[in-house]
Amino acid sequence: MRKYIVGNWKMNGTSADLKEIEAIATMSTSYAVSVDSALCIPATLIDRATSRLPEFNLGGQDCHMNVSGAHTGCVSAVMLSDAGATLTLVGHSERRAGQNESDADIRGKATAAQVVGLKVIICVGETLEERDAGQALDIVLGQVEKSVPDNAASDWLSIAYEPVWAIGTGRIPDDSDVAEMHGAIREQLVGRFGADGNNISILYGGSMNGENAAMLLAIPNVDGGLIGGASLTAAKFEPILAAAAKSC
Ligand code: PGA
Repeated sequence: MRKYIVGNWKMNGTSADLKEIEAIATMSTSYAVSVDSALCIPATLIDRATSRLPEFNLGGQDCHMNVSGAHTGCVSAVMLSDAGATLTLVGHSERRAGQNESDADIRGKATAAQVVGLKVIICVGETLEERDAGQALDIVLGQVEKSVPDNAASDWLSIAYEPVWAIGTGRIPDDSDVAEMHGAIREQLVGRFGADGNNISILYGGSMNGENAAMLLAIPNVDGGLIGGASLTAAKFEPILAAAAKSC
């Protein structure tokens, strides 16, 4: 499977950063033969960035499950698509925790995005307390079961496994723990969706950077990465794409 490397800018970036987005897009094209890449940027920048970079995959970081209506401050999947986005994240742990999003909410958002033709990355992951209590597999597999819609297919859906305690902390799990989790997610996807479950990309996220990417991307069933801090500049993002290209 081709590796899929996605940056998540979170709540970072104003018009002054459009040139960095452009630098990332330009850099990414030199790896496009073997690596798929995308950048999920603040909604306020999508329209301007996609106008400048119509060939590069730019996405949102969330969407509402409704098309329109009385939802002050929210952005719908239709709006993302209208602005030129080709994908969106849903269910990032910062939204599950900060905005109290449930698995049912996330499933609704994923469906709304798929309906308008966006590719979707559903994020899952356990907290440190849950891992320490030996519940990581149960928690994550439960999130996958309840957040992933019944019509999931590899042509629009990817999963990102992001242990909450690894996000932005510089800590990453042991490779055996990553292998176990990705293997279990794969098994569940194949059990539910048949052979196509083998083609659904399972990304790892949480403190992935230029130093650890090669090791993480070599783990079985790690089909790419969701990268926060190390996606903010082309200089930090490039070594991850290079590692992905080498791992093909
Ligand atoms: P990080 O964030 O790479 O900064 O740990 C990853 C994410 O939250 O998607």
